[in-house]
Amino acid sequence: MSADRELDVVLFGATGFVGRLVAGYLADHAPAGARIGLAGRSEQRLAQIRARLGAAASAWPLLVADAADPDSVTSLARAARVVATTVGPYRRQGIALVAACASAGTHYADLSGEVLFMRDSIDRYHDVAAGTGARIVHCCGFDSIPSDLGVLMLHHAARGDDAGDLEDTTLVVTALKGGVSGGTLASGMGQWDEVAASPQSRRVVEDPYALSPDRAAEPDLGAEPELDWVRYDGDLRIGAGPCLMAGLNTRVVRRSNALQGWAYGRRFRYREVTGFGTGPAAPVLGAAVSTALKAGAAGLAFRPARALLGRLLPGPGEGPSEKTRRTGFFRIQIHTRTSSGARYLGKIEARGDPGYAATAVMLGESALCLALDHDRLPGVAGVLTPATAMGAALADRLRSAGHTLATRRIVR
Ligand SMILES: NC(=O)c1ccc[n+]([C@@H]2O[C@H](COP(=O)([O-])OP(=O)(O)OC[C@H]3O[C@@H](n4cnc5c(N)ncnc54)[C@H](OP(=O)(O)O)[C@@H]3O)[C@@H](O)[C@H]2O)c1
Repeated sequence: MSADRELDVVLFGATGFVGRLVAGYLADHAPAGARIGLAGRSEQRLAQIRARLGAAASAWPLLVADAADPDSVTSLARAARVVATTVGPYRRQGIALVAACASAGTHYADLSGEVLFMRDSIDRYHDVAAGTGARIVHCCGFDSIPSDLGVLMLHHAARGDDAGDLEDTTLVVTALKGGVSGGTLASGMGQWDEVAASPQSRRVVEDPYALSPDRAAEPDLGAEPELDWVRYDGDLRIGAGPCLMAGLNTRVVRRSNALQGWAYGRRFRYREVTGFGTGPAAPVLGAAVSTALKAGAAGLAFRPARALLGRLLPGPGEGPSEKTRRTGFFRIQIHTRTSSGARYLGKIEARGDPGYAATAVMLGESALCLALDHDRLPGVAGVLTPATAMGAALADRLRSAGHTLATRRIVR
């Protein structure tokens, strides 16, 4: 569709905190000959960013565009095979670019964690993108690539063994260290405000199938709530507590199942928890983390407390230090039981702050995958998920970049 484009990848938001990290990743790791451009509101600031990226990026074109100016965003979409965007909050800034990419047949990757934005994108642009051949892919960072590719790998493993459909499936975050940026906080607060102001928005966000392509066709598996407190999980034999991003990742994974004709199974029950191990300290640790999550959410939702926190937390363009990004990591396990009774374990791990260092790898590789791996990608278009748009091709890229993505059958 777009071999005639001037560029393979344009990175929009290159002056922001994550944008700078993704630009650095692409400068260091894109293959020679990949045609990459940097886009943002200020040519001068883009030039400063490019100057710090080294020789590989010295000739990268700079494209000026403003998310609030649809003509400039349309020009961006027409300039490249793929637009990767870190311009957030996406609910406020993002939909014009989705519209432009869907119309122009340009692939698109972002770091959105905002369910309301994605629901809007699906409702308005899935059919447009399906018609032009564009792959619009939200959630190409720590949210939700480990969840989405991890479950896809388990499905492939079970299918390869003829072991039946996936049924009870639980992602456990066993270890995680990292920080947070101003842009992530702004995006989270934007969605909280909208949910607080609108019962309709709350219903969308709380629906386990909020991102479904066909809500009426989803299976009825009873209530599928997220955990809000620590409890002992007798099946996994661990203390399990709430997981911050479960409300997003579970919806993305369920959308992947539905977009593949419910290939994981019609009785696929999926949840995400934080694991607190088996030791005597597990309940105390779990209660402390659960309390901290509730207190943090309440603080950010309560305006006077937010104003106070706003002075302590990172602002736009700010985020975790170089040391935090370098010493961060995540370790995730996904446990599944299939309809034949087989059990599998998925392992997804990476070094580097999950939301920043590891996310820069994930978004950078997603953009390269969409631009350069055409022959290996599933033959689908529309508003997709990482698993349905890129699947095994992206998993292979992430492994080559040093991430662990593995599955094994386990016997109990
Ligand atoms: N899912 C994940 O795993 C994950 C991880 C990290 C971040 N994120 C998300 O990524 C997004 C960016 O986070 P961040 O910390 O990098 O934020 P940030 O530092 O505030 O950067 C925001 C970027 O958006 C640009 N921008 C703002 N308004 C614009 C407009 N009207 N037109 C063009 N560009 C505009 C800013 O450009 P200027 O420099 O011109 O202001 C800047 O480049 C957030 O939505 C965050 O939630 C997701």
